[in-house]
Amino acid sequence: MTTISFAASSARYSAWRRRAHWLTFALVVLAYLSIESRSFLERGSAARMAVVQLHYWLGIAVLLITLPRVLLRTREGTPPVTPPPGAAARLAAWTMHLALFIFLVVQPVLGIATRLVSGRGIGVPFTGWAIPSVMADRALAKAIEGVHEQLGTVFYAVIGLHIAAALWHWFKGRDNVMQRML
Ligand code: HEM
Ligand code: HEM
Repeated sequence: MTTISFAASSARYSAWRRRAHWLTFALVVLAYLSIESRSFLERGSAARMAVVQLHYWLGIAVLLITLPRVLLRTREGTPPVTPPPGAAARLAAWTMHLALFIFLVVQPVLGIATRLVSGRGIGVPFTGWAIPSVMADRALAKAIEGVHEQLGTVFYAVIGLHIAAALWHWFKGRDNVMQRML
């Protein structure tokens, strides 16, 4: 009995990594929703400022959770998939996870950089406080923001592909890929 439950649990990502994955999923959805919803709110309004500032802190939370995840991935690897996938599928999954991890680090860093060179800083919602800028170069801030927005658009597709692959494994794959993350 003990052996069975040990085998079952060791074939999944650790509890912390599973929680971190689903929390990140929620935070990324909210980061996208908050920034996209700003266009429905009046320019200069308190509500618009609040959703934009919420966007900053959702993104900062993503970065803080991702750093230990990357460390754990390099230390522990990934739990085995049964039946074992071929070399091409392993390479595809590895490339996809690398792209997702790069996005989860680079996207918030670009966002933070945008604000820290803009002369405006990173405002904290509902408080009037802000982490101050280190310089005020509007042109540089606009350039970094441009890359941040482009990457945000590209990753709609990459995240979509990741979700589609996971759902395919769950419903059609006849393997334990999804169960390892539940
Ligand atoms: C996972 C994290 C993040 C995601 C997925 C993300 C995504 C996005 C997207 C898609 C846009 C463009 C929206 C549009 O074109 O309408 C955007 C804009 C922006 N983001 Fe992020 N972002 C993240 C983190 C951050 C962080 C940590 C900061 C700063 C602390 C930040 C600051 C900004 C700024 C300043 C803009 C431009 C806002 C404006 O034009 O009013 N982002 N972000
Ligand atoms: C409905 C939404 C999602 C589902 C069903 C899902 C499913 C999964 C599954 C099954 C795995 C394990 C894959 C494997 O080991 O072969 C995984 C891993 C991963 N997912 Fe997702 N995912 C979702 C959303 C997201 C989002 C939004 C992100 C980030 C933008 C993301 C980032 C990652 C990363 C970085 C890994 C590697 C985990 C690690 O090594 O700790 N996922 N996902």
